[in-house]
Amino acid sequence: MKRPQAQVAVLQAADAQEDRRIDDVAEDADLKPEAATRAAFELEADGLVSVTEETLEHYELTEEGGRYVRESLPEQDLYEAAVDAGAADGPVQMGQAIGASGLEGGAVDIALSNYARKAYGEIDSGEITANQDADPGSDPEMLALEAVADGRVEDADADALDQLERRGLLDVREETVRSVRLTDDGVTALMEGVEAAETVDQLTPELLTSGEWEDVAFTEYNVEADAEDVSHGKEHILRQTANRVKDTLVGMGFSEMEGPHADAQFWINDCLFMPQDHPARTHWDQFALEEPEEIGHLPPDLVERVRSAHKEGVGPDGEGYHSPWTEDIARGMDLRGHTTSLSMRYLSGHQVGELDPPERYFSVEKVYRNDTLDPTHLLEFFQIEGWVMAEDLSVRDLMGTFTEFYEQFGITDLEFKPHYNPYTEPSFELFGTHPETGEVVEVGNSGIFRDEVLTPLGVDCDVMAWGLSLERLLMLMYGFEDIRDVHGTLCDLELLRETEVIR
Ligand code: PHE
Repeated sequence: MKRPQAQVAVLQAADAQEDRRIDDVAEDADLKPEAATRAAFELEADGLVSVTEETLEHYELTEEGGRYVRESLPEQDLYEAAVDAGAADGPVQMGQAIGASGLEGGAVDIALSNYARKAYGEIDSGEITANQDADPGSDPEMLALEAVADGRVEDADADALDQLERRGLLDVREETVRSVRLTDDGVTALMEGVEAAETVDQLTPELLTSGEWEDVAFTEYNVEADAEDVSHGKEHILRQTANRVKDTLVGMGFSEMEGPHADAQFWINDCLFMPQDHPARTHWDQFALEEPEEIGHLPPDLVERVRSAHKEGVGPDGEGYHSPWTEDIARGMDLRGHTTSLSMRYLSGHQVGELDPPERYFSVEKVYRNDTLDPTHLLEFFQIEGWVMAEDLSVRDLMGTFTEFYEQFGITDLEFKPHYNPYTEPSFELFGTHPETGEVVEVGNSGIFRDEVLTPLGVDCDVMAWGLSLERLLMLMYGFEDIRDVHGTLCDLELLRETEVIR
């Protein structure tokens, strides 16, 4: 029997009595692992070998995990210090136990949260107790850490391993290992004699010009063989999903808004009937610009109407805030904390001219907030802004629009909660369920604009509006738990590479 060279080499290196790893076979056969794998699959297709696959898990301690094995877990230190301070007999001051434990910085939080989780004791209003029944000396997570460090993963408790991975103390890497074994037919073929057939795997200009191509035998393609993974550049899943959101909203009859990322507080806050002494209007929440410090132009008549809404309210029974309002503050430049600034620009008639109801507008754009970084907060994120201007809108219209919108992304379990915004009444927050953790996650905020917003803008019908988080929508769609998986230097490359956004 004649077979391509690589197949002959694999047949000869394979064994009928035991599975041999393809990597070992490749080495004996002097082939690259990919070439040996390809040959093994070709032989398998002809029944001469069998190929089996298993997934091996490799456990490795992270730097932090390694440190804890050498020293101890922060919660163990805290327990020891708490017991020394008398916390086994009754509550003691937390500061005292922490001070004695020698824990500092981030280690304190780690110790406290794991202490409580493991019921080492209770932590309540600045005091700590130590549970006498707790046994930190044989903490399952510490035992598992030690087992991994000693190369005895099989001794470790599976739940403890999961927990260690979640705590970032352990990295788990999966490897697919393929093995081959000769079948009876393979043995027979070898006994009858297998020769290497000269096959040509590349058509060259020489073969063509000499006419030799007509006589040679070409290597067959195995279209089922695994190909090497090549990671190439591609559009980020956030951008892909943003584009899908745009298509969806355009399909629902909306037009896109555009406008500045840095804008006057007037458009960001004042038009939205946010009093100038509102706590969200401080540097705790917003980023102010030094250069330019203020906007060049604001429409004077609109400024006057907004000022009057803030001072006296609108309509015969109107109530304003009666607190100071100055145009200086309104002119101040900020990075926009929401894209509702764009909605104000458009609704005012100053962006695309007077609007004639019904109208629908949206944007999918970046906003900036001076938040503290955590798994669900970043300093910048994308907001899906939108509004509908029409006669007689109700909360039902809002809920219906969201239900229709989120359905397109496979999210059908929306929940609504009454909320407060200075600029909408009624207002609703939207929630969805995280597919992995089952937690209820806030995905957006919405409402129907108040007269105090619409009257100064010159709008005399209803406007319902919303701001939804694009990143939270992605979380619900793809099940990742940390917003930093898709943004910034800590992002999860595998998630970004492998997630397919269906459009
Ligand atoms: N601006 C709100 C936010 O950022 C969202 C919103 C827009 C709410 C329009 C109501 C109306 O949370």
